[in-house]
Amino acid sequence: MEKIYFRNDYSEIACPEIIENIQKYSRGHYVGYGEDEICESARNKIKKYLGDADCDIHFLVGGTQANTVMIDAMLKPWEAVASVVSGHINVHEAGSIESVGHRIEPLPEHDGKMDPDELDKLCVVHEFEHMTDIKGVYISQATEVGTVYNKRELLALREVCDKHNLYLFVDGARMGSAMMADGMDLTLRDMARIADCFYIGATKNGGMIGEAMVIVNDELKPCYRRLMKQHGALLAKGFILGIQYDTLFTDDLFFRLARHENEMAMYLKEGMKKLGVKLLFDSVTNQQFPVFENDIVEKLAEKYQFEVWEPGDKETTIRFVCSWATKKEDIDSLLNDIHNLI
Ligand SMILES: Cc1ncc(COP(=O)(O)O)c(C=O)c1O
Repeated sequence: MEKIYFRNDYSEIACPEIIENIQKYSRGHYVGYGEDEICESARNKIKKYLGDADCDIHFLVGGTQANTVMIDAMLKPWEAVASVVSGHINVHEAGSIESVGHRIEPLPEHDGKMDPDELDKLCVVHEFEHMTDIKGVYISQATEVGTVYNKRELLALREVCDKHNLYLFVDGARMGSAMMADGMDLTLRDMARIADCFYIGATKNGGMIGEAMVIVNDELKPCYRRLMKQHGALLAKGFILGIQYDTLFTDDLFFRLARHENEMAMYLKEGMKKLGVKLLFDSVTNQQFPVFENDIVEKLAEKYQFEVWEPGDKETTIRFVCSWATKKEDIDSLLNDIHNLI
C-alpha cells in the first residue's frame, strides 16, 4: 500500500493547470534565457500584485540557487550576511554561501525569527575593521519552523537595515503559504516596499520548479543576469519557468493553492490540538511539528510519509507538510490514527 504523503510540499509534479499549459505550449518556439513573451507576460502579471513596483523579476530553478546568486550579488569579499542560526542558508544548503566566498554571521533565533535589536548589536560589533562588515540580512518568509514575520516585525528589521545601510533579502520559498496565513497583515505589495529583494516560490506552491526573484533596489539590478549565468541559473529554456508563473499568477491560482495548503495544515493542527498533541512550534503555515513518543512515531511511519525533525530518546518531533494536493480525507485518516495511538 502506498503511504499517505505528508513529507513535503514538493512531492507532486505540478498542479493540473500548469501541466495543461506546458502541454498547450509544447510545440511552440520561444526565445531562450527568459527573454520570451511568456516570461514577459508572467513578469507583468506578478508586477500587478506588487503594485506595479519598479522592479526586475528573474526566474530561477531552486531556493539554494536563488539564495546563493542573490547573496553573491549583495556582498563584496569582506562583507557578510546575517541570518538566524536556523536559517536555511546556515543549516541546509551545504555551505553554498561559503562556497562563493562569503561568511554568514549567525544570530539567535526566536521562533525561527530574527530580533532587530540583536541585528543592530551585531552590526555595531562588526564595525571593527578586522571583522566582516555586515551588509546583507537574510530572513525567510515563512521561517524554517512555519512562523511568519508580520508587518511590524518586518518594518523593525527594515529600520535596522536603514540605520546600517544593509540589504534586506527575504527567502520566499514558502511565500505563498506565508502570505495566506491567518491574520497575515502583509501583502506582496508590502514586501516590494519593505525588502530590497525577495523571491516568490513556485516549487513548494503547485509549480513544477521555480523561484521568481524580485529585485527592488536599483543597486542590485545591474549584472544580475550575468551573475545568474555564472551560477548556472540562467536557463536556456527559461520559458518553462515563465509558463508556470504565467499560469500561477492568472486568476489568483498561486494564492488559491497556498490557501488550500494552509487550510489543510490548520485543520490538521486544530485536530492534533484537540487530541492533546504537543506542537513544538506555533506554525501558522503549511508545516506542522507535532511531538510524539517514539513508539507512536514508528507506528505512524507504517502508514504515513513524514520527516523526522528532532529525534529524542523518548520523544521525537516530526514534520507534517500539507501541499496544494493534500486531501482532507487523508488528514481525517491521520487524526483518527493518532487518536487511536495516543
Ligand atoms: C526556506 C527555504 N529556502 C530555500 C530552500 C532550498 O530550496 P532548494 O531545495 O530548491 O534548493 C528550501 C528548501 O526546502 C527552503 O525551505
